[in-house]
Amino acid sequence: MGSVLIDNIGSLVTNDPALGEGALGLVADAALVLADGRVAWAGPRSKVPEGAARDRFDAGGRAVIPGFVDSHAHLVFAGDRTAEFEARMSGRPYTAGGIRTTVAATREATDDALRANVRRLVAEALRSGTTTIECKSGYGLTVGDEARSLRLAAEHTDEVTYLGAHVVPPEYAGDPDAYVDLVRGPMLDACAPYAKWIDVFCDRGAFDGDQTRAILAEGKRRGLVPRVHAGQLQPGPGVAIAVELGAASADHVTHLSDSDVEALASGDTVATLLPGAEFSTRSTYPDARRLIDAGATVALAADCNPGSSYTTNIPFCVALAVRDMNLTPAEAVWAATLGGARALRRTDIGHLAPGARADIVLLNAPSHVHLSYRPGVPLIARVWKNGELVV
Ligand code: NIG
Ligand code: FE
Repeated sequence: MGSVLIDNIGSLVTNDPALGEGALGLVADAALVLADGRVAWAGPRSKVPEGAARDRFDAGGRAVIPGFVDSHAHLVFAGDRTAEFEARMSGRPYTAGGIRTTVAATREATDDALRANVRRLVAEALRSGTTTIECKSGYGLTVGDEARSLRLAAEHTDEVTYLGAHVVPPEYAGDPDAYVDLVRGPMLDACAPYAKWIDVFCDRGAFDGDQTRAILAEGKRRGLVPRVHAGQLQPGPGVAIAVELGAASADHVTHLSDSDVEALASGDTVATLLPGAEFSTRSTYPDARRLIDAGATVALAADCNPGSSYTTNIPFCVALAVRDMNLTPAEAVWAATLGGARALRRTDIGHLAPGARADIVLLNAPSHVHLSYRPGVPLIARVWKNGELVV
C-alpha cells in the first residue's frame, strides 16, 4: 500500500488535544501523512517530515475531519413504510408496532435482496462520510432469520449486533416469555458466532426491565457486550440496566431521569443520541446539554431504519444536534466521530493521531462548523477508508 501526503488542509480536526487546540485537537494550515492504511503523521504544514510520502493530494485549504463512526443502524430489512411515515406526519404517533411490518417483509425476502439493501445503505452512508457503521439484526425474529441477518451484516461490517429482542413477533404474542426464552436460548446459540454486541429494545411495546436484564445477562455470559435501546418512547429502566451491566452504550435516551443522568455521567456507558429518530417521529429531543454538562460521554448516530429514522446522513444529524439539542458545532462533530468510536469501544478510529486508521473526510468547506452552518448541503468532497480514496 502506498503513502500519501494530504497537504494544504485549511483546518484539521484530529480529536487529539495533544496535537492541536481544544477537544477537537484543531490544527490550522495542516497536513496529514497516510501510510499502509494508517495515519503516519499529522500536524502543521510547516513541520511535515521531508520526503514523507510518495503521492501528494492538495486539499485546497479545505477542512479535514475523521470519518464518521455511526454506532447505531438497522440495515438488514426489506419492505416499505412510506405510508406509516405519511400517517405520522398527519398526526399518528410512532409505536414499536410498525417494526412487525418490516419483520413480515424481511422474512419473505431472499438473501440477495437483503444483501443488496445493506450494500446500498452502507454505500449511501460512505458517500456522506461514514467510514464505520454498526449494524443490528432485529427484523427476522426467528432463529434462522436472525442468524442470516447477522451473517449478511457481517459481510459489510465488523460491528454486528444481535437484536433478537427488538419486539415480540406475532406468533409469540400470547406468550412473550416463551419468546424471551428463545432469544436467550437457541436464537442466541445460532447468533452469537456472528455478533460482537447484544441489544434489547427496552421500552413500551417491546421488552420490560426484567426481560431486558435476563437477555443481556445471558448474552454477556456468551461473550457478547450489551448495548441498550433505552428510554425512546417513555421513561424506563433501560439506562439503569445498561450501566449496571456495563453496556457499551445506552441509545436514544430521549426520556431521562435524574438518576439516569447521574449513572451515565459516572459510569463508562456512552449515551448515544439519535436525533434522526426524534425528527422523523416528531418527538421532543433528549436533554443532551444536561448529559454533556454532567460529564457523560455522548455519541451521535443516525439510527438508519425504515421506521423511525430512514436516514444514513450523519451531517444531517450533526445539524440537528446543534440546532435542536444545543450541542456546539465542535461537540456534535466530536460525538459523531470519537464519540461513536467510544460507543463501539474502538481506539483505532474516530481520531487522526499517528497510528489511527486512515479513515478521513475532506469537506467542501473551510471548517467543521459548516456541517451545521450549511444544513442539507452536500459538503463531503472526498473520503479515504483504510488509506484508500473511496469517494
Ligand atoms: O431505533 N426503537 C427501536 N428500533 C428502531 C426503530 C425500528 C422501526 O421502527 O422499525 C429505532 O428507532
Ligand atoms: Fe435503533
